[in-house]
Amino acid sequence: MPNYDMLNYIGGEWTGKDLPKIEVTNPATGEVIGSVPSAGKEEAEQAIDAASAAFTGWSHLTAGDRSDLLMKVYDLMIEGQEELARLMTMENGKPLRESRGEAVYAASFLKWFAEEGRRVYGRTVPGVAPNHRIKVIKQPVGVVAAITPWNFPAAMITRKMAPALAAGCTFIVRPPRQTPLTALKIAEYCEQAGIPKGVFNVICGAHGPITDAFMNHQEVRKITFTGSTEVGRHLLKAAADQIKKVSMELGGHAPLIVCDDADLDVAVAQTVASKFRNSGQTCVCANRIFVQSGVYDAFVEKYVHAVQSTLKVGNGLNEDVNFGPLIDGKAYEKVEGQVKDALEKGAELMTGGTGTAEHGAYFYQPTVLKNATQDMEIMHTETFGPVAPIQKFETIDEAIRLANDTPYGLAAYFFTKDIGRGTRLSEELEYGIVGWNDGLPSTAQAPFGGVKQSGLGREGGSEGIEEYLESKYISLRI
Ligand code: SIN
Repeated sequence: MPNYDMLNYIGGEWTGKDLPKIEVTNPATGEVIGSVPSAGKEEAEQAIDAASAAFTGWSHLTAGDRSDLLMKVYDLMIEGQEELARLMTMENGKPLRESRGEAVYAASFLKWFAEEGRRVYGRTVPGVAPNHRIKVIKQPVGVVAAITPWNFPAAMITRKMAPALAAGCTFIVRPPRQTPLTALKIAEYCEQAGIPKGVFNVICGAHGPITDAFMNHQEVRKITFTGSTEVGRHLLKAAADQIKKVSMELGGHAPLIVCDDADLDVAVAQTVASKFRNSGQTCVCANRIFVQSGVYDAFVEKYVHAVQSTLKVGNGLNEDVNFGPLIDGKAYEKVEGQVKDALEKGAELMTGGTGTAEHGAYFYQPTVLKNATQDMEIMHTETFGPVAPIQKFETIDEAIRLANDTPYGLAAYFFTKDIGRGTRLSEELEYGIVGWNDGLPSTAQAPFGGVKQSGLGREGGSEGIEEYLESKYISLRI
């Protein structure tokens, strides 16, 4: 088993050898697999200074030159995908098949934004007088600081850094303590690709002092965060002091609606994929499954069968495993608590409902609960774990009301072959992302993001690069 002792990447240098260490463990075994330095305020300020010093040079390159460099990072990530995938499985626990998928998904943002960067257009607008011209140009925001989550150790970095760098911004990322090694691997690709020093920086360390340094430094013009609504709220308040630009990709509690006329085989397969991806630990996992009465029993039967026959729990490094551990004990306790509460309130356990918590490794069986009701905690609090509560509904009005009854608004899913019903659902569900007969809509080409308390801004698509650009209006009298 390789041991990954890695250093921070600041200003193009590998630093932090003398700092205290943060151990990185494999959540499938509890074993230490490596370490990173535990940096604080001083190192964060060094990273900001490095990113600030690199900004002029980087932003003055042509979009084409930046694009070429990003494509080199893309090529290196694709060449290194197997190593990157194994690293992700070791520090995050997700099965190799999912890590391989994530390596390609992460790389796809580099390619997409390398291409989008070439198409950052301004515009001209008719002036107000014969001698007046109006021009609007797009300029990079400046130094961007990113705070990223452990559930997608690579893709949640590239989804932010690729548009930022393509736009001409420089970038610092503070990865989570659980999965910092993948971030540092991405830094290696940037170094090998010839991304100039200071343009991409990785600083590992305690959230508090690093985030405070980001928030208090005038040079940091934008904060981009993926994580919980609770932390996002705190960051938004902190960003208010200096009116920093922000993008927030926050929590979700995705409803999934199966209508009477749905293709049940498609609905079952997509609901398994959506619910149990990354052991249920994504912001867009289907968390509340609403099934219309006419197909309720048939759906539950097929769904339970699919879960039992297709998901194999274990250490993700084993090729036959497709369902890994939870990230830590806190996640395990939350899942256990939600299941217990649901069972006490009348839910019926169809499969799963147990787990093992030994030697620092937390496995919870994929779990299906039937007869969920609105008084259960699981129907109101984001689960971030492998539990599928299923509730019956009668009418589409009722399904829409139940689905929208949440402060969250990230992703929603529904299954119907009826174009009128589908159009209505897609328009009335208060969500930033809607999957219609599709449980896995995430892709670099499309804008990802939420409404209500699920966040601000979009990542991916043509919208993703706008988050890193300012519009400047030039009023010209000739
Ligand atoms: C997330 O869970 O935050 C991202 C999931 C995705 O990109 O599909």
